[in-house]
Amino acid sequence: MTVNFTVKTTLVGIALFLVAFVVLGSVSVVGWEVSNSNWFCTNACHQVHPEEPIAQSLSAHANINCVDCHIGRLSFFPAMIKKSSHVKHVWSILTGWERPTYAPSLGHVGNTCEGCHTEGTHKYNLLGSKSSFATDKDNTESRLTMTLRNVGRIFGGEDRRGMNWHTSGNVKFVATDPQKQNIELVEATLPGGEVVTYKSVKATMSDSDLASAERATMGCMDCHNRAGHPFRDPESVVDAAFASGELNRKLPYAKKFILDLFDTKVESREEAREVVDHAYATYREAYPDEVIQDPEASESARKFIEERKEFLTDLMVSSDFPEAEDVTWKSFPDNLGHKNFPGCFRCHSGRLQDDEGTPIPVNCSACHSLPLVTERDQIPAYYLALLDQKKPRNHRSPDWMSKHMDYLGDKKCSTCHEDIKFGVNDKTFCSNSGCHAPDWQYLDLSALRND
Ligand code: HEC
Ligand code: HEC
Ligand code: HEC
Ligand code: HEC
Ligand code: HEC
Ligand code: HEC
Repeated sequence: MTVNFTVKTTLVGIALFLVAFVVLGSVSVVGWEVSNSNWFCTNACHQVHPEEPIAQSLSAHANINCVDCHIGRLSFFPAMIKKSSHVKHVWSILTGWERPTYAPSLGHVGNTCEGCHTEGTHKYNLLGSKSSFATDKDNTESRLTMTLRNVGRIFGGEDRRGMNWHTSGNVKFVATDPQKQNIELVEATLPGGEVVTYKSVKATMSDSDLASAERATMGCMDCHNRAGHPFRDPESVVDAAFASGELNRKLPYAKKFILDLFDTKVESREEAREVVDHAYATYREAYPDEVIQDPEASESARKFIEERKEFLTDLMVSSDFPEAEDVTWKSFPDNLGHKNFPGCFRCHSGRLQDDEGTPIPVNCSACHSLPLVTERDQIPAYYLALLDQKKPRNHRSPDWMSKHMDYLGDKKCSTCHEDIKFGVNDKTFCSNSGCHAPDWQYLDLSALRND
């Protein structure tokens, strides 16, 4: 009997163990899956950063899980170890966190972006073209076209490097802030193996601090930091919607009107919808003459706003997040170009120079062709004339952009560039609005001048 009793207890024990194993196992698997879900990353700690999932849902990566980028595409055990380091977020929940939140923990090699994209991801020089619209009565369209030098050489030009060159461990740098906007030292291993150090002429750190500071290695995220969360500026959003026909560009002053609408501060999506509900009345008040003179335009405006209510409401809350106090698209720098933020100009600005005063190249055409701005797709004559010309040697010097102003009176320039008049009307070479209309941040050509 004793034997039977022991067998029974053992069997019960095994059964209980199996049940517990299955239950605990299932709970762990479910727990693991839940903790990998976008729901968990967005809601588990209450809405800590409501703007991030909104921006992610508008990105090319909308269908990817937060963990694919923020933990990386790892197998179970390495992922578990990495995830446990995220437990520090619990501490922030207890002690509070700063708004907006930033993500310094993203790794830069091997398993995040490269988990899906290969190293040789920049396969083509990209020809880009986009429309923008003026805030005048006709919403006048102009088009900016350029070829981005992603791979390197464009049309038989001299050999150049492309984007991938920065991600092979060749570029190391020291930044003074967690968002890596102010870069004061860069160490580059050039194709020949030579290591060159560039220091900022406006450095706030002392030479000895710079020498001992930890170097960050440049990776995908140092250019594509907005890949997961593009925070869109209202002007580009409206331009894109006019270009695609989602918004009606034939309505007088439509661009100005919609941008003004976006300037209205709203505290909730409902409030945004109310603003849009009243949009037609506001439009008639703002432009009474145009509306009265053109009853057809007035009627199509009414119909249009009626039909596009949800779309306009979506746009209003996609750059300025009512549920996220004090956070707008401006809170998150974009490193990819240099339009609204310093971006590439953090390094390619003229400030970072080697021992001999030679900067990291500032030439516009190191990265893309000359911006071509056209109205009604008429290519300016000065641009066509340049296509047959070879660039003179001095144009390739890394500090050419700071020097070119000194030559403006030089007759030789006009043999290729024709009539030279500085301005922004896109009629002559030096009145290119792509170059001279914006106020580029960090492009510090004066840093290269002796006066
Ligand atoms: C395609 C990759 C990708 C996906 C998917 C992704 N992120 Fe990110 N996320 C990034 C990158 C890149 C950064 C910027 C890191 C940096 O500045 O170095 C970032 C930054 C952040 C930040 C800091 C604020 C900011 O925008 O700089 C938060 C918070 C964040 N992500 C949360 C999330 C959440 C929540 C999800 C899922 C809903 C998510 N991320 C999905 C790539 C991604
Ligand atoms: C889980 C796989 C996955 C991961 C991880 C991932 N991507 Fe992507 N990425 C894709 C896919 C798929 C597309 C194409 C989407 C499309 O065309 O709609 C894409 C598109 C892109 C594009 C072109 C579209 C755009 O947004 O301009 C860029 C740039 C890009 N990824 C960069 C990154 C960077 C940088 C990271 C790391 C922060 C990253 N990706 C992480 C799968 C991934
Ligand atoms: C020096 C800055 C820089 C670095 C570093 C960089 N990229 Fe890019 N990448 C660019 C630029 C500029 C473009 C063109 C952007 C555009 O079309 O607006 C681009 C385009 C892309 C595209 C779209 C390509 C296409 O043909 O449409 C993908 C995908 C991409 N990058 C992924 C990556 C990945 C993955 C890494 C890391 C291995 C990386 N990039 C590192 C600057 C960079
Ligand atoms: C952290 C600093 C840093 C940032 C940020 C950076 N670069 Fe660079 N880049 C360098 C350095 C250093 C070189 C090599 C300079 C040299 O040859 O002396 C370089 C070279 C290049 C070249 C090759 C130029 C040539 O003449 O062959 C291109 C193209 C380029 N960068 C594009 C970009 C673009 C586009 C961005 C922004 C999306 C960018 N870089 C952002 C540091 C940077
Ligand atoms: C280090 C590389 C680099 C240098 C140097 C550079 N650019 Fe760019 N620029 C870029 C990249 C990358 C983009 C595209 C970003 C994108 O796709 O959104 C861009 C975009 C632009 C745009 C389009 C902006 C828009 O409306 O979206 C203009 C105009 C422009 N550059 C003008 C210039 C001029 C003028 C110079 C010289 C003073 C210059 N760039 C120097 C990398 C560079
Ligand atoms: C032999 C013909 C020729 C002469 C002479 C010439 N240029 Fe150029 N220049 C060019 C070409 C070609 C380009 C390239 C356009 C492009 O990249 O799409 C250019 C580009 C430029 C750029 C833009 C640089 C960049 O990186 O995109 C500036 C600024 C410039 N020239 C100024 C001058 C000045 C100032 C003079 C007189 C000292 C001058 N050029 C003389 C042919 C010439």
